[in-house]
Formats: sequence, structure tokens, C-alpha cells
Amino acid sequence: MSTEHRSSRTSIPELSQRKGGTPIVALTAYSTPMAQLLDPHVDLLLVGDSVGMVLYGLDDTLPVTLDMMIAHGAAVVRGSKRAAVIVDLPFGSYQESPQQAFRASARVMAETGASGVKLEGGREMAETVNFLAQRGIPVLGHVGLKPQSVHSLGGYRARGRAEREAEAIMNDAAAIAEAGAFAMVVEGTVEPLARAITKSISVPTIGIGASPACDGQILVTEDVIGLFGAFTPKFVKRYAELGEAVTEAAQRYAEDVRERRFPGPEHCFGAGPRKQAS
Ligand code: KIV
Repeated sequence: MSTEHRSSRTSIPELSQRKGGTPIVALTAYSTPMAQLLDPHVDLLLVGDSVGMVLYGLDDTLPVTLDMMIAHGAAVVRGSKRAAVIVDLPFGSYQESPQQAFRASARVMAETGASGVKLEGGREMAETVNFLAQRGIPVLGHVGLKPQSVHSLGGYRARGRAEREAEAIMNDAAAIAEAGAFAMVVEGTVEPLARAITKSISVPTIGIGASPACDGQILVTEDVIGLFGAFTPKFVKRYAELGEAVTEAAQRYAEDVRERRFPGPEHCFGAGPRKQAS
């Protein structure tokens, strides 16, 4: 029996080797059908805890649970075969101790089949990142704007304008890279800071509202295709307006039903073939 681990998925070492090379293409996904659509085009699918806001209508990501992340993670793994799938550890499932983070990550890895986990945090999470990495759990870091810390940060504004804040985020990125993260999301930081982080650490940076200088880019898919939010954040480029398409489809369906144009004869089951008398 071959001992080689056979998978056509982009591997974690392959992602790490993209530092300074062809940019890593990443999008979020929460469901099997969306994963099937995105998988041929991306290197990494992130099952983000943004699922709480995008699919569940929550105000922030804090109420998202580990069970929710596992259910969505497994759905995305089922719908993909090429991209590496990374699942967010939700708020409260990893901050307490490296051991707690390991238990949560082990469940994610075993119950979803994902390639790794993502967690938010800087220097204070370095010990945890190292603990997981040493035990075979690939970790994607997340520095800069950390949505799970929205209350202490006081909102979602871009980070790193003030020199002290920029310096702290630089130190966070260095600590997480040093601890063994295979790559790092840099969210909502001013461009010079994202550029400086990317230059100074040895693992790829994946930017969201960060900078084209990052080693890759990630966006929330529903932002990209016009299915979430009344307005488009500055850092998002809309590539489709599916919200408008859904509204139009629902309007046409409603009119057809009210006017008895749907269902038509082509949508109806007939009486079926008659039984031959014997
Ligand atoms: O939860 C999420 O979707 C994320 C991305 C926006 C990076 O963390």
C-alpha cells in the first residue's frame, strides 16, 4: 500500500511556497453549491465566520458556534476538490488556551476534512499557533482588523494609520509568522502597513482591504456577487449583481403565479400511461 497522501487539492506547502509569486486567489464559501461553483477558479476556499452575518443575519461574528462552522466546513469540503479549504475557529473556541484551541481544531479537521484552520490574533495567540502547528494543524493567521474583537476595536475602521498601532500590527504579524502560521490574512489595514508586513514576513499575506502588495487576495463571495449588504465597502469590487437577478426572478414568478401563467402544461404531470388490459 502506498503511504503517499493522495489529493488533487492545493496543499498547504504549495500555498506557503506562493510567497512573492503568483498571487493566491481566495474567496469565502459556506455551502456545497457555492463551493462547486468557485472551486475551479480559486486556490483557497475560506469557510469564514462571516457566515454568521452573511447567511444568518447576525450583527457581528461573535455568536457563531463551532458546530455551525463544522456544518458549513463539511459542506464546502463536499463541494470542492481542487482548492484548499480552511475553516475559521469561531469566537470563544480557541482564545482560552492552546489546549482549547487544539480540541476545537481537531474537531474541525476530523469532522470536516478541511486542510487547516484560521484564527484571529497577534502576539497573544503566538503560543497557540505554535502549539497547533507543532501538532499537525496548519494555521492561517489573521491580523489587522480582527472582526471578533470589534467591541474592543470600537468598529470596523481601517487599522494602522497611527504609528503605534501600525507598529503593534507589524509585531503581531511577525509573531504569528514566527510561531508557524503557513500564511496570514491581513484585513483592513492602510496600504503602507500591508506592504511593510508583506515585505517583512516569510509567509504569504492574503489581503482583504489591505493592499495589492499582499501575496494574495480574499473577499467575501456574497460581496463580490451582489448578494450581501445594501452598500459595497470601498475595498470590494462587484463582479456581478445577483441580488438584482434574484429580485427580478422573484417578481416574474409572483406575477406568473397570480396571473395563472405558471405552472404551464409543460410543468404538469399527465395521467401517465394507461395499463394495458390483459
Ligand atoms: O470570516 C471571514 O470571512 C474572514 C474573511 C473576511 C477573511 O475572516
